[in-house]
Amino acid sequence: MLWNKKATAVLVIASTDVDKTGASYYGEQTLHYIATNGESAVVQLPKNGPIYDVVWNSSSTEFCAVYGFMPAKATIFNLKCDPVFDFGTGPRNAAYYSPHGHILVLAGFGNLRGQMEVWDVKNYKLISKPVASDSTYFAWCPDGEHILTATCAPRLRVNNGYKIWHYTGSILHKYDVPSNAELWQVSWQPFLDGTFPAKAITYQAVPSDVPNEEPKVATAYRPPALRNKPVTNSKLHEEELPQNMKPQPGNEKPLSKTALKNQRKHEAKKAAKQEARNDKSPDMAPTPAPQSTPRNTFSQSTSGDPEIDKKIKNLKKLEKIQKEKALLQELEDLELGI
Ligand SMILES: *[C@@H]1O[C@H](CO)[C@@H](O)[C@H](O)[C@H]1NC(C)=O
Repeated sequence: MLWNKKATAVLVIASTDVDKTGASYYGEQTLHYIATNGESAVVQLPKNGPIYDVVWNSSSTEFCAVYGFMPAKATIFNLKCDPVFDFGTGPRNAAYYSPHGHILVLAGFGNLRGQMEVWDVKNYKLISKPVASDSTYFAWCPDGEHILTATCAPRLRVNNGYKIWHYTGSILHKYDVPSNAELWQVSWQPFLDGTFPAKAITYQAVPSDVPNEEPKVATAYRPPALRNKPVTNSKLHEEELPQNMKPQPGNEKPLSKTALKNQRKHEAKKAAKQEARNDKSPDMAPTPAPQSTPRNTFSQSTSGDPEIDKKIKNLKKLEKIQKEKALLQELEDLELGI
């Protein structure tokens, strides 16, 4: 459960051990939005799979979810749980807003290779794409300009150390622990909010004396003949570009919450119809008791007239096979002696 800073809403990640559809070995995860004003919704995530991370922006008005089978999707949602921006897919399982909230880092740590995407979330523009291999820790500096990544024991016992980055992708400082030693924890000195004013975002990598030995991000192989042509088919590994970098003219927005809901409703209806067809058997379904009839009085009482009693009995039989409303009315009238 993840509260926003203003304490106006909480995001809940719910898990079931078993996925009824059998699609996932890990069970099924859903994301729920619950606000203190009584509003709630299931956040519609347009890709199945685990939910790796969810983070609120610092104004408590938006949140970013990282979810779905690899390559994972990342999407920003507003308080109506409508998608605001879709980052497409990538090797990522974590998201970190900068202290001032205007930069968002999407990262792939743990079993991923440490790829980071640094995004300007005012303009939805990619600032840099550095790689911090083997990182077990990530933290924004309170100044909103620097990032710390570290490789610590006991998660990893080799190649321990830390790096200080500028968000434009430059490594400004680096410390490697001697090979016979371990690094356990690294952290920024804390500062009160507002100590560092927000600065305009720069896109140019800041200069640095520390060489970046990190492997460059591997790009998909393209035959030489296609290298200068626009990417037309990125479907190959289910890869999806961010919504504003898609090659088609007029970048489509992701399906709205309502459109998604309708699509799902339509599918559910289709499935229900199919099920109903399969369930139809020659046996009569039990008939629900007619609401207006005082059942226990008429089932015991007799009219006193054997002819009428016989008629009642026959009509009751008919009632069982659910004939017309008229029959029920007639039965009721007979019993009441009208
Ligand atoms: C959080 O998101 C809202 C849009 O819902 C935006 O106006 C605001 O600037 C964001 N907050 C920060 C600190 O960037």
